[in-house]
Formats: sequence, structure tokens, C-alpha cells
Amino acid sequence: MWDLHPVTAADLSALLDIEAACFDRPWNRDVFLDELARRDAAGYLLRRPAPDANGAVGYICFRLLYGEMHLTKIAVAPQWRGQGLAARLLVHGMETATALGATAVLLQVRPTNRPALGLYRRFGFRQIGRRKQYFSETGEDALVLMRHLKEDS
Ligand SMILES: CC(C)(COP(=O)(O)OP(=O)(O)OC[C@H]1O[C@@H](n2cnc3c(N)ncnc32)[C@H](O)[C@@H]1OP(=O)(O)O)[C@@H](O)C(=O)NCCC(=O)NCCS
Repeated sequence: MWDLHPVTAADLSALLDIEAACFDRPWNRDVFLDELARRDAAGYLLRRPAPDANGAVGYICFRLLYGEMHLTKIAVAPQWRGQGLAARLLVHGMETATALGATAVLLQVRPTNRPALGLYRRFGFRQIGRRKQYFSETGEDALVLMRHLKEDS
């Protein structure tokens, strides 16, 4: 039923609608276009299949740096949450990154973002650091979380 494919410029309107519903400081079109143009970045959109032309429900973006997957975005539209869709996106992202040689995932998250922390804990992420007042708009710290992608790494 669900369709997962690399984000293209044609997906941006649907993606930006979800972004606006999910984040206080959403990325704009130019930021996404710049991100998607990077050779070390990837993005995947989850949507319901045709004929539902407006079926985007969530996405994941990450960079591959120094053999690590750096998660830059994961979001599911509010009305589609609680159905395992972020988990599906995260698994796909981690499988893709593993196939491209990544051995670990790193990300930053607000300590108050309980749904995201629940998601990351479920997948075995552990806190490895804390960046003081990382989020300039609120002065909140960022927790730095990590998990390995391979048993032997
Ligand atoms: C975080 C987010 C992506 C989760 O999306 P989702 O599709 O609802 O998540 P899933 O249904 O796949 O849940 C997977 C796991 O995450 C955890 N989780 C999800 N929602 C949760 C909540 N409200 N409270 C606590 N844990 C939660 C649970 O462990 C869940 O596993 P379970 O269903 O077996 O208990 C979604 O809430 C979102 O888009 N938030 C806004 C954007 C955001 O904050 N992104 C992360 C930035 S770091």
C-alpha cells in the first residue's frame, strides 16, 4: 500500500505542507532544493500509491559523512502518526545508509521532543552528547544520539 521513493523537486509542495505542520522553524523550498542537490544527501518520501495524487504522509532526509548517517529530518503528517510510519522511514533510511557503507547513525533532538525520543529509543539510540543552547530560537539544548548500524561496528 505504501510507496517509498527518493524525493524529487516534483514532491516538494507536498513535502513542504508536511514540514509546515511538523516544525516551528520549517525548512523552506530553497533549503530542501539545496539539500537534495548535495551529493552526500538523500531524502525519501512515503506516500500512498496512485490514484491518490496528494498522498504524501512523511519523509526522511539524511547525509552520509565520514561513513556515518547524519539524520537531518524525519517527519510524519500529524493525521498519520502512531501507525509505524516513522519507523518504516527510519528502517528504510538505515538500510540505505548501510548499503552505502555507513556504520552508525547520528542525530540531534530536543530533550522535550517526546515522540522523537520514543522513536529513537525504540531503535536503540543512545545519548552520546549534549550541545548547549543549540536551538537558537528557544535556547534549548540538543541531545546528540547515536546507534551503530552493524553488529560488529
Ligand atoms: C517523531 C515522529 C516522526 C514519529 O512519527 P510516527 O509515525 O507517529 O511514529 P511511529 O508510529 O512510527 O512510532 C514508532 C515509535 O516511536 C515512538 N513514539 C511514536 N510516537 C510517540 C509518542 N507520541 N510518544 C512517545 N513515543 C512515541 C514509539 O516507541 C513508537 O513505537 P511503538 O508504536 O511500537 O510504541 C512524529 O511525531 C513527527 O513527525 N513529529 C514532528 C517532527 C519531529 O519532531 N521530527 C523529529 C525531529 S528530531
